[in-house]
Amino acid sequence: MAAEKSWVRLVTAQTPTNIAVIKYWGKRDETLILPINDSLSVTLDPNHLCTTTTVAVSPAFHQDRMWLNGKEISLAGDRFQNCLREIRKRANDVEEEEKGIKIAKKDWENLHVHIASYNNFPTAAGLASSAAGLACLVFSLAKLMNLKEDQAQLSAIARQGSGSACRSLHGGFVKWIMGNNDDGSDSFAVQVTDEKHWDDLVILIAVVSSRQKETSSTSGMRESVETSLLLKHRAQEIVPKRMIQMEEAIKNKDFPSFARLACADSNQFHATCLDTTPPIFYMNDTSHKIISIVEKWNRAETTPQVAYTFDAGPNAVLIARDRKTASLLLRRMLFHFPPGADVDLNSYVLGDKSILQDAGIKDMEDVKSLPSPPEIKDVNSNQKYAGDVSYFICTRPGQGPIVLSDESQALLNPETGLPK
Ligand code: ADE
Repeated sequence: MAAEKSWVRLVTAQTPTNIAVIKYWGKRDETLILPINDSLSVTLDPNHLCTTTTVAVSPAFHQDRMWLNGKEISLAGDRFQNCLREIRKRANDVEEEEKGIKIAKKDWENLHVHIASYNNFPTAAGLASSAAGLACLVFSLAKLMNLKEDQAQLSAIARQGSGSACRSLHGGFVKWIMGNNDDGSDSFAVQVTDEKHWDDLVILIAVVSSRQKETSSTSGMRESVETSLLLKHRAQEIVPKRMIQMEEAIKNKDFPSFARLACADSNQFHATCLDTTPPIFYMNDTSHKIISIVEKWNRAETTPQVAYTFDAGPNAVLIARDRKTASLLLRRMLFHFPPGADVDLNSYVLGDKSILQDAGIKDMEDVKSLPSPPEIKDVNSNQKYAGDVSYFICTRPGQGPIVLSDESQALLNPETGLPK
């Protein structure tokens, strides 16, 4: 009897990363990843920061395997296993007649998957790669296995891989509702407004050079929950009110309120880290200098121009009210943080490079001749710190996950199911 012809079914998807403006810090359930407060984020444009993942299934595969940025990694960790289990449970019949593929719902438990994932930004730069990565894993597997669940229900699965991943299942502004149920069924992410609602905003990320190894978010959160009274107060008294105000600010495109709330929330999150025993330091001197520069500028204007927010690391995420403001922000950033001696401008400002033109900067000569910002009156605030920022990424609010239907974008070979 001739061997049955084998087949490979592929799905490729692209998923954005996100940055919280009302922070998630602290779990009430470590296994299900249930938070102690709601959080709210902006999804970043996947053209600049995203994960692309191809998932494949074939009767010829003998085990589940995964490659991250070209290197095989273990799928043994809970974060992957929880997502795989929850998706397999909900898999449905799949039929692709032209390829001779017919998978019955009950077949999925015996079929293995191959997963190849690629982050278009440095995985170790502290730019929420696990959020985009786990969201992309869940979204692409859900398409492969023909799940009927909506984005909110998929977000509850992604949450079990990495908490903040649930917010990457939507574009625009997204809130993660903490929920109250012990089984986590009411803890998922929903869209507040889509990415077109407030498309004036420009986001400039300063990837800050850091020598020290940071406390992981998982252990940092655990220590804060166990020891910080400020975190308890924040979760119970502050965040519920702030969530309402932040949603209102976003819906009304009220930048002054948005900036005030985002900056206050970032600062309070870092205050809870300091209130942890032993204290945790995520920001460094460069982060603090960036805060001072923005605060000074905002106070010199009649209304705030830029909001800042910092996650569990030293990188600054700066949100400018519009393009004009973003170009003025870039001029200030390049004045204080010019590239190091061996770095050229083209590899120093990434993402939407048109911001350089808007800022009137074409080369290093232009950077060197930038004037001191007008709000700076004393010479001590006028200093330059070449090399303290590794690079900038200019981006904006962006869309949620999409399927890439062009097979040339797949990361796995459609014949073998192995990395291309
Ligand atoms: N962690 C960091 N990046 C990831 C990715 N693309 N997929 C899964 N986990 C990740």
